[in-house]
Amino acid sequence: MRGVNFFIGTVCLLVPLALFLTASGPSPVAENNSTNTTPYNFNLPYNLLPVQNPKDNPPTEEGVELGRKLFYDPVLSGNHKQSCAGCHKQELSFTDGLDYSIGALGKKARRNSMALVNLGWQDKYFWDGRARTLEDLVHFPITDSLEMNADYNQIPKQLNKDKNYVALFHKAFGVDTISMPYVAKALGQFLRTIVSFNAPFDIIYRDYVFYKGELQDEAREVTDLQLLHNAFDPSNEKKYGHDTALIQKIRAISPSSKVLNTFSVCLNCHYNSLQLFCIGCNGTIQPNALVQYQNNGLETVGKDKGLYQVTKKEEDKYLFKTPTLRNLVFTAPYMHDGRFKTLEEVVEHYNSGLQANQNLDSLLMDDKKAPLRFNLNAEEKRQLIGLLKLFSDSSLVTNSKFSAPTSR
Ligand code: HEC
Ligand code: HEC
Repeated sequence: MRGVNFFIGTVCLLVPLALFLTASGPSPVAENNSTNTTPYNFNLPYNLLPVQNPKDNPPTEEGVELGRKLFYDPVLSGNHKQSCAGCHKQELSFTDGLDYSIGALGKKARRNSMALVNLGWQDKYFWDGRARTLEDLVHFPITDSLEMNADYNQIPKQLNKDKNYVALFHKAFGVDTISMPYVAKALGQFLRTIVSFNAPFDIIYRDYVFYKGELQDEAREVTDLQLLHNAFDPSNEKKYGHDTALIQKIRAISPSSKVLNTFSVCLNCHYNSLQLFCIGCNGTIQPNALVQYQNNGLETVGKDKGLYQVTKKEEDKYLFKTPTLRNLVFTAPYMHDGRFKTLEEVVEHYNSGLQANQNLDSLLMDDKKAPLRFNLNAEEKRQLIGLLKLFSDSSLVTNSKFSAPTSR
């Protein structure tokens, strides 16, 4: 029953989290000299940990707004034809609907665009983990010839010619001349504001575990798997608050024990999809957010070696970022190469198609170290997809705070 410990397993992640919070990352240090800024308020639900902002880049209203403007501005690409948003569209939970993204020059990028959500609690980015901070990350898409294909040194020259930008950078950071570290800071601030915690799953779970705002005794006493079962048991619906539409939704899924067990295996790897607290930790709230790089048996030998390209370690071959299960209804096609067009295909992969990759994760192996077969029938697959869809938050894709600014 390895699959049941997805909360308890988070305890051992506290040490690396503490380390990453104190490290400022490799990006050049740029001080914020502006005195007239307003701190940005994330307004998170009560049960979440604060967003982990880098010490040298505290978010402000002005910085976030500037980051949003830059995110939607093609000035960051070499030919001024593509913005970040070109490949990260809000209506698709900031993905682009393609198997491989298309860059400013019309060429295919190497991988599938990634959903941008709840990034502020993570410590590694990209399918292969090559960026450690969001401030460090932004030069990759900007300079990649298959993506925005820009000259990093030219961009500040362009921006400094624009009086509006000069004023906005001055307001946000107190600088007179725009330079790339400030572009990166503003984008980093904006990216961290893209948070999503209003999926049906959140509402059910929040109400069940923190009924009327109080952490429930049951959350301390029963095992995590039991908690998951109870939270999704329609007979506990009185704890879902008064949202009858939601109760109907869960009733309609009515997942069997086998499906809930399968789902808890999924969450063992995809735990960054959950909310950022840990219930199995003596009632205290713990971070549950660090990302993992793993192999999920897509193929025995792949073209793309994933994390290995960064670390050159044999044990990292074919490992990819375990992505969030949030907002899957918006983010097809799936996987680093966009090979699956539907959730049905994804579930069939896990159910019957796992391949014996040399680094296939042990969670997806049976006792004889062969790729696991979940053997779900059609009804069980439907239930599993129903559970996955409970993680989709439609408020994210319409929230005007993340949309293109109206005036430019
Ligand atoms: C040509 C399409 C394209 C453009 C333009 C683009 N991206 Fe991306 N983005 C991608 C792809 C593809 C990936 C995955 C790349 C990889 O893992 O190698 C990605 C990954 C990311 C990630 C990592 C998410 C995670 O969960 O690890 C972030 C953050 C991101 N992009 C932000 C940006 C920002 C900010 C810009 C603008 C400066 C931008 N992107 C421009 C296609 C694009
Ligand atoms: C051993 C860890 C592990 C387990 C267990 C696991 N996954 Fe994954 N999952 C991954 C990794 C790693 C990826 C990315 C793989 C890639 O693109 O190469 C992934 C990708 C996905 C994606 C694609 C998301 C996207 O944005 O492209 C979905 C959907 C998914 N998994 C669902 C599930 C479901 C459902 C289960 C349970 C039946 C499950 N996973 C079990 C590690 C795991």
